[in-house]
Amino acid sequence: MLESPISSNSPCILVTGGAGFIGSNFVLNWIASGKGRVVNLDLLTYAGNLGNLGPLLENPDHILVHGDICDRGLVGELLLEHRPWAVVHFAAESHVDRSIRGPEAFLKTNIEGTFSMLQASLEHFRSLPPHEARHFRFLHVSTDEVYGTLAPDEPPFHEKTPFAPNSPYAASKAASDHLVRAWVHTYGMPAIITNCSNNYGPFQFPEKLLPLMIVNALAGKPLPVYGDGQQVRDWLYVIDHCRAIEAVLKAGRTGETYNVGGSNQQTNLTVVLTLCDLLDELVPGSRYRPHQQLIRFVDDRPGHDRRYAIDAGKLERELGWKAEETFSSGLRKTVQWYLDNQVWMEEVTSGSYQKWVSANYGDRAISERSTVTASAK
Ligand code: NAD
Ligand code: TYD
Repeated sequence: MLESPISSNSPCILVTGGAGFIGSNFVLNWIASGKGRVVNLDLLTYAGNLGNLGPLLENPDHILVHGDICDRGLVGELLLEHRPWAVVHFAAESHVDRSIRGPEAFLKTNIEGTFSMLQASLEHFRSLPPHEARHFRFLHVSTDEVYGTLAPDEPPFHEKTPFAPNSPYAASKAASDHLVRAWVHTYGMPAIITNCSNNYGPFQFPEKLLPLMIVNALAGKPLPVYGDGQQVRDWLYVIDHCRAIEAVLKAGRTGETYNVGGSNQQTNLTVVLTLCDLLDELVPGSRYRPHQQLIRFVDDRPGHDRRYAIDAGKLERELGWKAEETFSSGLRKTVQWYLDNQVWMEEVTSGSYQKWVSANYGDRAISERSTVTASAK
């Protein structure tokens, strides 16, 4: 096995998208645990938020660079200047509904951006002296959505499941995964891919299911469940995902893919009902209790994948990773975080967020389906 680069003399990494949801959790954890400096390259799109990085903005171990991953010259300069031993590539357009309404940005950032990162990183890798090249790795953070959708009785996705992406988002991520694979095979790029299931936790932008439902429920607004709410996702607490990435960086084999998931399959309706129960408990004075009265079934997402589930056995066997949070403990921490961070929530939901909400939900019909009851769980 490689000597751990984490304890080597060059403890700097380049992270892309480190002002977004998973990236900011990763960077905060990395620096808090003393693993070394982080150069954080982020374009600060609507999804990137300096408020996620508050405690790090004055920290000399965190070097924020406001820039585009598509700018290969900039990426090359950063690599040359900081000589990171690893690149952790989170930056992407990440929301399926937005990809349906405007796929162009997904092709540009997720495909062209990954191409740019690979080219700059390969050039850098080739220029390194052997003792530095030995440690260098490019970790591409991807999603389980590249595998498509599962029938109720099919086994979870494993690393050899053929790709069958169904949304523009999933197709763009699948394309980026293929680029990484090709750079490994053709150019000997020391890259690793992780494909993770749905994350939840602090700092998630409220366009995604859980934070959207929390924000709406606290304001007494409708909770829009797409279709029949019986779609299944495999939920993983974001810090467990960050720990998986750390484990892969430390000891993962280059050229390999590792699936990451929480072995926690739930229907969307169950997730929303569980959230409503928790809000009833944590906000006992709310005038919207019981919160489940706010649930509304609305028009489905076009091409909506029915079920995702991940087999994370390879990661567990090879690298000893295991999710530490249960859904119950992770959800409680998450809801409490949103309750404790109302200013963050108000900041991210002002301005352009309102435009997105009216574009995505404004013309969705509410179905005739009867009101939800706890027995629907
Ligand atoms: P996010 O949308 O919250 O954050 C994306 C970040 O990338 C933002 O900070 C944004 O400003 C930045 N960015 C976008 N375009 C950029 C560009 N051209 N140059 C530089 N920075 C740019 O996304 P997330 O949910 O944190 O996801 C991070 C990664 O993890 C993505 O690659 C996503 O596909 C993958 N992933 C996400 C999940 C999930 O549940 N959220 C699950 C599995 C995998
Ligand atoms: P999302 O958080 O967008 O993640 P993904 O599409 O990447 O899985 O959605 C999670 C699930 O929740 C998905 O099946 C779509 C559903 N959903 C709703 O029912 N209503 C909503 O308003 C949103 C945003 C998602």
